[in-house]
Amino acid sequence: MPRSKIAGIGFYVPENIVTNNDLTRFMDTSDAWIQERSGIKERRFAHRTKETTTTMGVEAARIAIERAGITPNDIDFIIFATLSPDYYFPGCGVLLQRAMKMNHIGALDVRNQCSGFIYALSVADQYIKTGMYKNILIVGSEKHSFGLDFSTRGRNISVIFGDGAGAAVIQPTEKENQGILSTHLHSDGEFAEVLAMYNPGTHANHWSDKPHADFEDKEMGEMFMSHAMIEKGQNYPFMDGPAVFKKAVEKFPEVIHEALDDNGLKTSDLTLLVPHQANLRIAQFVQKQLKLSNDQVFNNIEHYGNTTAASIPIALCEAWEKGKIKEGDLICLAAFGSGYTWGSVLMRW
Ligand code: UT7
Repeated sequence: MPRSKIAGIGFYVPENIVTNNDLTRFMDTSDAWIQERSGIKERRFAHRTKETTTTMGVEAARIAIERAGITPNDIDFIIFATLSPDYYFPGCGVLLQRAMKMNHIGALDVRNQCSGFIYALSVADQYIKTGMYKNILIVGSEKHSFGLDFSTRGRNISVIFGDGAGAAVIQPTEKENQGILSTHLHSDGEFAEVLAMYNPGTHANHWSDKPHADFEDKEMGEMFMSHAMIEKGQNYPFMDGPAVFKKAVEKFPEVIHEALDDNGLKTSDLTLLVPHQANLRIAQFVQKQLKLSNDQVFNNIEHYGNTTAASIPIALCEAWEKGKIKEGDLICLAAFGSGYTWGSVLMRW
């Protein structure tokens, strides 16, 4: 059975750089607070009307496809991960298929937030191994800037997120010292409401003791987004940051060890860990726990903030462009976030 490899990788970030000081124009925050708590200095925000989650994904995909030495028509399956889609439905996969004038191939959308790229890669890996597809395009893209509360009310969330996209082409490889060794996926829905955007939705306050929306039970025609919800800011994401932080520093090391143990490898064997860029403090904590050197961990959250499904492919691509990844290197990708969902991928480049 062949293994799957990343044959081409690309990323795209919008031109517009938004510094921490820029955010102080909208909310009560400071450069010092943001840097101390998250390590973020700046992030990119997409053009409000000319760029969408899909168009950024297309930009990243073009680079990945070119680097794989193929054309969009060679792609035989699309997997698109995002939590900030252009439309509530249909997903971004079909919009990308249309924008890139691809054949009428399958397009799957993944809704696993920070772990989206790991889940997408894991699905692609299975299709490649079974021989069903030969050139799978996976994309992680987010336009967070369109859906955050930039008043002081939303400051604990809005200062950490940024926009951008990453993409990869997955192909089979027969080389012995190359390809994905294993993928490990997990979830714990007990914490679904700890980091979530409840509205718009069909929950009607069903799932928790704490109501998520000003919901009026009408016999027919209750809207999943009402004026009252918008007035109260119930259309924005909610996050219990400290709770997520605590769980993240537990689950990252666990799922990285799971990947290494499964393959009879040790942390010292790792060339590079590319963790989801949620918070520099989380990545530093994980590095310390695993006793990894600075050279063994790649972070770029300082410049892009947390780009959720895009953060791993952006970081992986930047690390590769900087010459930090070479053929045969042992690379671990790991993520934790909303759901909770978490996972890891271990591969030889
Ligand atoms: O990728 C998805 C997964 N997400 C994560 O992994 C995020 C995990 N959590 C975090 O990264 C951190 O919890 C944050 C960076 C979001 C927040 O840092 P924290 O150290 O946990 O801060 P906190 O929420 O406990 O807030 C501490 C204080 C509060 O004030 P009081 O109650 O102590 O007076 C907040 O109101 O900081 C205040 N605060 C702010 N102050 C200035 C919250 N946000 C801000 C802000 N600027 N932007």
